[in-house]
Amino acid sequence: MPTETSVPAETAQWWRDAVIYQVYPRSFADGDGDGIGDLTGVRERLPYLAELGVDALWFSPWYASPQADAGYDVADYRRIDPAFGTLEQAEALMAEAHALDLKIIVDVVPNHVSDRHAWFQEAVAAGPGAEARDLFWFRPGRGTDGELPPNDWQSVFGGPAWTRTANPDGTPGEWYLHLFAPEQPDLNWNNSKVREEHENVLSFWFDRGADGVRIDSATMPAKDPALPDFDPDAPPVPHPYIDRDDVHDIYRSWRALAESYERPRALIGEVWLADPVRFAHYLRPDEMHSAFNFDYLNCSWDAAELRRVIDATLAAHASVGAPASWVLSNHDVTRHVTRYGRADTSFGLSLRQHQVLTDLELGTRRARAALLLDLALPGGCYLYQGEELGLWEVEDIPDELRQDPIFHRTGGTDIGRDGCRVPLPWSGERPPFGFSPEGASAPPWLPQPQRWAAYTAQAQSGRPESMLTFYRTALGLRRSERGLHGADFGWLPEHAPGVLAFGRGDGFSCLANLSGTAAPLPADADVILASAPGFDPGAAELPDDTTVWLRRR
Ligand code: GLC
Ligand code: MG
Repeated sequence: MPTETSVPAETAQWWRDAVIYQVYPRSFADGDGDGIGDLTGVRERLPYLAELGVDALWFSPWYASPQADAGYDVADYRRIDPAFGTLEQAEALMAEAHALDLKIIVDVVPNHVSDRHAWFQEAVAAGPGAEARDLFWFRPGRGTDGELPPNDWQSVFGGPAWTRTANPDGTPGEWYLHLFAPEQPDLNWNNSKVREEHENVLSFWFDRGADGVRIDSATMPAKDPALPDFDPDAPPVPHPYIDRDDVHDIYRSWRALAESYERPRALIGEVWLADPVRFAHYLRPDEMHSAFNFDYLNCSWDAAELRRVIDATLAAHASVGAPASWVLSNHDVTRHVTRYGRADTSFGLSLRQHQVLTDLELGTRRARAALLLDLALPGGCYLYQGEELGLWEVEDIPDELRQDPIFHRTGGTDIGRDGCRVPLPWSGERPPFGFSPEGASAPPWLPQPQRWAAYTAQAQSGRPESMLTFYRTALGLRRSERGLHGADFGWLPEHAPGVLAFGRGDGFSCLANLSGTAAPLPADADVILASAPGFDPGAAELPDDTTVWLRRR
C-alpha cells in the first residue's frame, strides 16, 4: 500500500470548497467503440477535466452490474463492469487523475444490491428461514395463500415495493422488499454482516486511492423492522424507512473508518430531506463531510426564493460546522438549461415535466447566471457532466430506446431520467460526435441530437462566448480568487428587489439580477467576470438574468 505523507489541515479538508465534477461513466466517453462509455474513454479525457479546472471527479457506479438501474444495482463491488473495463484500469485511472491533481470519489449504494449479487442468489436458493435470507427483507405474503405483498409500501420507481420469489421446489414462496426496482433488493442493516461487508468495500476503494465516497439514497437503509403499512400522504413519525435515527450509526462508523487514514477520506451523502434540521444531522462532526443541496437544485429561478434557500442552507450547515454545497444538475434530474427555460423552473422528482414549452436561449442565459452565483457562494459545488457544454434535456428519445426503469415501471407516465444521460458530444459534425471512436461497432446507447454539432467540446473550445470557455474562465477565477476561499459571506443591503447581492472576503462581491429588468451596477467596483456573453465591463447596468463578479476599487 502506498505510504501517505502528512498534509496540512486545510489541504486535508479539500472537500470544504471543492468543485466536484460528476462523471456518469456510461455517457462520458466510449474508448472501445461499443456505444457505451468506459474507463478507457475517461482516461483519454482526463486532461480535458484537469483543464476545465475542477478539483475532484465523482464516478457514478462503475462496478459489475446487470445495469437494471444503470449500475445502481451492484452485483460485485470488487469488480468493474466489463462494459466499463477492469479493476486495473480503474486503478490506473485513479493514479492518472491524482497525477493531474484531481481527487476521486466513488459511489456506494448501501440501501440495496443487485438481485444478481451472490448474497441474494444464495438467499433465494436457500429458502425460507435460512440465515442467508436475513441479509435482506424476506417475508411471507398476506392473504390466504400469501398471494398479497407483506405490506402496502410502494417502490420509488412505481408499483409495489415487494416481489414474490419461488421456493427452491418451484412453489410460490416469500416476498422480498425493494424500495427501488425489483432487481434492487433492500439490505437488512440490522445484520452485522451487512455492516461489515460495506466497511470492507469502503476500505477496498480507499486503499486503492479513492479520496471519498458518494453515498446513494443515504436516508433509506434503516427500516422499521415491524414493516408497518402507512399512508404515504401522512406518514408516521418516525417514517418506516426514511431518515430513521438509527441510520446515523452507519455513517458514524464510516466516518471513523474514513478518519483512520492519514489523509482522511470524504463522505458525501445523497440526502433528500425537506427538513433542514434533520438534513444537518447527517453532517454532524462524526458523520458525513458534505451532502448535496437539493433544496437549491429544486429552487425556482426567483431571487426571494433563492435567498431564502441560501440563508437556510448556510444556517443549517453552520449549526454543525459543515461546508454548504451547491448543485444544479445530476443524472437523476432534468438538465437545468431546460428547467430554467420553462415557466415553472422548480423541480420535483414526482413532477418531472415533459415537453412543456421551453425557451433554451433563456434557460442558457440563466444557467450561466446560476453558475456564477453558486461558484461565488461559500462551500463546495457539484457539476454534472455536460453542463459545461450547455447541454439541455433530450426530450425526443423514442420510447423503445428509453432505458430508465422509472419510464417502464410507470408505464411512461413519468418520462424518466434518460434525457439527462445522453452521451456527451466531443467533436465532429454528426453522431457519435467523437463519443465513440471512428469505426465504432455500435451507435451511442442513447441517440444524440443533431443540433449538438454546435455544442461539442471541440466546437466550443477557444470560442470566447461559448459555455465551455465560460466554465473554464469561471472555475479558474474561483480558484485564484482569495476572497472566495474564506468563510466571509454577507448580503449587501443597497440593492434593488430581485437582485441578489453579497460580499465575500477581499473586496469581492457577486450580483445576480433576477429582477426582470436592468439593474444599476455599483460605481466603486470593477467587473471581474460577467455571465452574459459579450458583456461590456464598463457598462453602468446589469441586464436581467445576468450575474457579475465584482471587486471593490
Ligand atoms: C439514487 C441514484 C439514482 C438511483 C437510486 C437507486 O437516487 O442517484 O440514480 O436510481 O438512488 O439506487
Ligand atoms: Mg465502450
